[in-house]
Amino acid sequence: MNFLPADIERYAEDHTSPEGELLARITRDTYLKQIAPRMLSGHLQGRVLSMLSHMIKPNRILEVGSYTGYSALCMAEGLADGGKLTTIEANEELKHVLEEYFFQSPYSNSIELIIGDAKEVITTLEGPFDLVFIDADKYNYPLYYDLLIDKIPSGGYIIADNVLWSGKVVTDVVHNDYEAKAIMEFNNKVQADERVENVLLPVRDGLMVLRKK
Ligand SMILES: C[S@@+](CC[C@H](N)C(=O)[O-])C[C@H]1O[C@@H](n2cnc3c(N)ncnc32)[C@H](O)[C@@H]1O
Repeated sequence: MNFLPADIERYAEDHTSPEGELLARITRDTYLKQIAPRMLSGHLQGRVLSMLSHMIKPNRILEVGSYTGYSALCMAEGLADGGKLTTIEANEELKHVLEEYFFQSPYSNSIELIIGDAKEVITTLEGPFDLVFIDADKYNYPLYYDLLIDKIPSGGYIIADNVLWSGKVVTDVVHNDYEAKAIMEFNNKVQADERVENVLLPVRDGLMVLRKK
């Protein structure tokens, strides 16, 4: 979901650094071959993730929800020397697709792919992670936050995608829209948490960016 008028969105993309050949190819392949290609971060949001990662220079990044690897590769651009990105994906059918794209990137030695359910995988991972990107099943955003906040050091960041959920967060949510309710619960949880400072960026479908104090 884009909230900006199409011409403004296009102007913003035209005045944003290009995404590079591999990322453009991942986008094309994803739209040709995968279900729900709109899940991919895309050019503008990908450059935002890359820029934030460069600013943070993380030693360790954790991504929850890899899909076809687009956002992982964007964030890997900002890793500190010797840094490592771990990404978790539940869909086993994406394993070989992800491995292929990571192998073709300059970051193949810096990326660890874990196929599994993030709810279980996260509990097995030891922190600290300097940067976490939450972008998997929306219903579990509040749980992911609770599982991850103690794995972030002071000065560490969490970014969560789709926090505007196509604008449903400002409408009367129908009683059985559990994803919208979970996103709203997540946003309220972050806003009320005195351990963090946060900003909701209305980029694409909404990015919550928070820093642990
Ligand atoms: C929105 S897509 C991720 C898009 C990707 N981060 C990007 O920006 O290009 C969400 C992904 O999370 C995965 N997913 C959903 N539930 C999950 C879970 N419980 N554990 C791990 N991955 C999950 C889905 O299979 C899907 O590939």
